[in-house]
Amino acid sequence: MARLVVVSNRVPIPDKSGTAPAGGLAVALQTALEARGGLWLGWSGRSCADDAVGPLQRLKEGNIEYALTDLTERDVEEYYQGFANRVLWPICHYRLDLAEYGRREMAGYFRVNRFFANRLLPLIEPDDLIWIHDYHLIPLAAELRRQGVTNRIGFFLHIPWPAPDVFHAMPVHEEILTSLTAYDVLGFQTEHDCENFADCLFRRGLGKRLDTFRFVVGERAFTARSYPIGIETDDFAALAKRAAETALHKRMLQSLDGKQLIIGVDRLDYSKGITQRIDALESFLNRHPDSQRKVTLLQITPKSRSEVPEYEAMQRAVAEQAGRVNGALGTVDWVPIRYINRSLRRPALAGLYRMAKLALVTPLRDGMNLVAKEFVAAQSEEDPGVLLLSRFAGAAQELKEAVLVNPYDVEGTADAMARSLAMPVEERRERWKAMMKTLRANDVFTWCNTFLDDLAGGPAAQKARA
Ligand code: UDP
Ligand code: G6P
Repeated sequence: MARLVVVSNRVPIPDKSGTAPAGGLAVALQTALEARGGLWLGWSGRSCADDAVGPLQRLKEGNIEYALTDLTERDVEEYYQGFANRVLWPICHYRLDLAEYGRREMAGYFRVNRFFANRLLPLIEPDDLIWIHDYHLIPLAAELRRQGVTNRIGFFLHIPWPAPDVFHAMPVHEEILTSLTAYDVLGFQTEHDCENFADCLFRRGLGKRLDTFRFVVGERAFTARSYPIGIETDDFAALAKRAAETALHKRMLQSLDGKQLIIGVDRLDYSKGITQRIDALESFLNRHPDSQRKVTLLQITPKSRSEVPEYEAMQRAVAEQAGRVNGALGTVDWVPIRYINRSLRRPALAGLYRMAKLALVTPLRDGMNLVAKEFVAAQSEEDPGVLLLSRFAGAAQELKEAVLVNPYDVEGTADAMARSLAMPVEERRERWKAMMKTLRANDVFTWCNTFLDDLAGGPAAQKARA
């Protein structure tokens, strides 16, 4: 079996401090790589002065060999905070209004991709399969090809790919699009994302489709298709079951004192629809006063990308909103929202999911949303909680038995909360069983193996699978 070399900006660094991995990419890739083994190159999370970038930091933990690089302060500002998180992220999440395009940041993005290519080059061997992840590193394969790399290289985009009218508003969209053609396999979360990508190519008159999954642009042919990312379904279910015995679980149950738990778990990101969700909760509580004092929303919201102005503004907005709702509706012994800005480790999360009657997963756009899948996997068969899920999360394409909502419709979401909390147990079981079947059929290992089979197999294998 060929060695796997993974590259991503974010890496869950094994630092023994027990901090939770940040985001779905780190969680999913860590699980997949632990099983298969391989080398993982990424950012150390540290920044330094321009002339102080040292050698790669090498670590080995289980099956994974880590190679971590520092970035300069300027790199972090231009490439990570600037182009990746103030241009590509908002555009891919349909927020043109938040995109802050600047040439300096764009140049920094391409420069840091070149830097990653230079760090990777001495590490790769001719038979390695190279798998690059997410929007930070789109031009990496083109850089590697320029330097003579002929290995098979795949790319997986963890976030949505928007419709052409949105994507083409980005000034360098053509460079970004053409740099993707340096890959052999391009993976998207949903068919819809993949079709959007294809539409972006065709509208610019770039290339054509050879068959369902094969495309050609200029001299290069490649595969593009959806590979919906999953979780380690059975392991997560077992984790949740075990968590019911822990001290944290017992403390939480005690503090609920018979109230029903509603849960929300999201990085503090404007794409997650947190303010719309709190509006919907307020509307639900106002229209169902009998539910006041009987439910509590536990909103676990680790801070994310705090140096980016739009995220800083969001932190203030959500804190104010949660405070306002608690102030307006709370009583001496009850608050509607328990708002937490720390990240919890997954075993603790698993237990809290299991305890909850309802999960609110209401992003305005999301590539997949692993929290939705984890919540379902964590439920008990006898008395499963209900998943209320935004139609605009990639997960909604698979979890069709969730209660699907439009998060922009605050009153509609409030009604869906009322319906979900009153749902009879038979219906909850039926929906849960159907969703578990889906999650078992497409777990994180299927995601990884299917992608890598296509990457290793070349065009013939991809055709056979089609
Ligand atoms: N997560 C965690 N601790 C937290 C909050 C989130 O471990 O306090 C994990 C969560 O279990 C999930 C991931 O972070 O696996 C979030 O992935 P998702 O796809 O839902 O969203 P993303 O943050 O990638 O946009
Ligand atoms: C999303 C992105 C990942 C990113 C994660 C956390 O899941 O798709 O690429 O790692 O958010 O964001 P951060 O900026 O902290 O890496």
